[in-house]
Amino acid sequence: MPIRQFQAQRMRAPRDFQPIDSTPICVEIGAGKGKHALLFSANHPEFQLIAVERTREKFVAMQKQHQLEGQNNLTPIHADALPWVVHALHPAQVQQFFILYPNPEPHNPAQRWLNMPFFEFLLSRLQSGGQITLASNIPEYIEEAQQQLIDVWKLPFVKERIAETSARTHFEIKYLERGELCQQLIITKPVDYTTRFDDFQPLQGKQPTEVSAE
Ligand SMILES: C[S@@+](CC[C@H](N)C(=O)[O-])C[C@H]1O[C@@H](n2cnc3c(N)ncnc32)[C@H](O)[C@@H]1O
Repeated sequence: MPIRQFQAQRMRAPRDFQPIDSTPICVEIGAGKGKHALLFSANHPEFQLIAVERTREKFVAMQKQHQLEGQNNLTPIHADALPWVVHALHPAQVQQFFILYPNPEPHNPAQRWLNMPFFEFLLSRLQSGGQITLASNIPEYIEEAQQQLIDVWKLPFVKERIAETSARTHFEIKYLERGELCQQLIITKPVDYTTRFDDFQPLQGKQPTEVSAE
């Protein structure tokens, strides 16, 4: 089934929105309490990582741990990732996206990341050759995402089994301890890939009325 076009210009600015500069960055969506974000930024000082989390208490836990560890290449953001991405990110700015153990949305398949029209917008923010890592403990979630990559998004990917010793996130630790199969898709954006949002500039906190009046 074809996916309708995402209405980016209708996204209201996140509360207390702060613009970011346009240098290359990595972005984690749904970072939880920030275990992966803290590890990744400590192990990769050459990358700038922005870690977005919608749930306040988890964001606060990430922020507190970040204050203790002090990585200056990590920026935790408390926001819903959809409006934040539309308002903050420039086309082809992102080197890597991480979406690790997203909510499975059992009663709302349309809210899974690769089923959303927003996914096309996300792809427009990714550099050519950039990657999206999508991890899940639910085999059907991975299979569905894989099928969407083939049928809708026409993107190359590799599927990997996550090692039992891996401990990148709180959810990963919990699922692997229970003996569950954890898998990830590493999705790559080809050089000649285009989307309908490639010229869409970040809204930078403007509200929809200001955008449509331009
Ligand atoms: C199952 S948890 C996984 C957290 C973390 N990645 C981990 O593996 O431990 C999914 C997280 O995604 C966050 N989330 C879901 N939708 C989001 C959105 N639109 N924007 C930002 N965060 C979101 C939820 O608040 C939740 O913390």
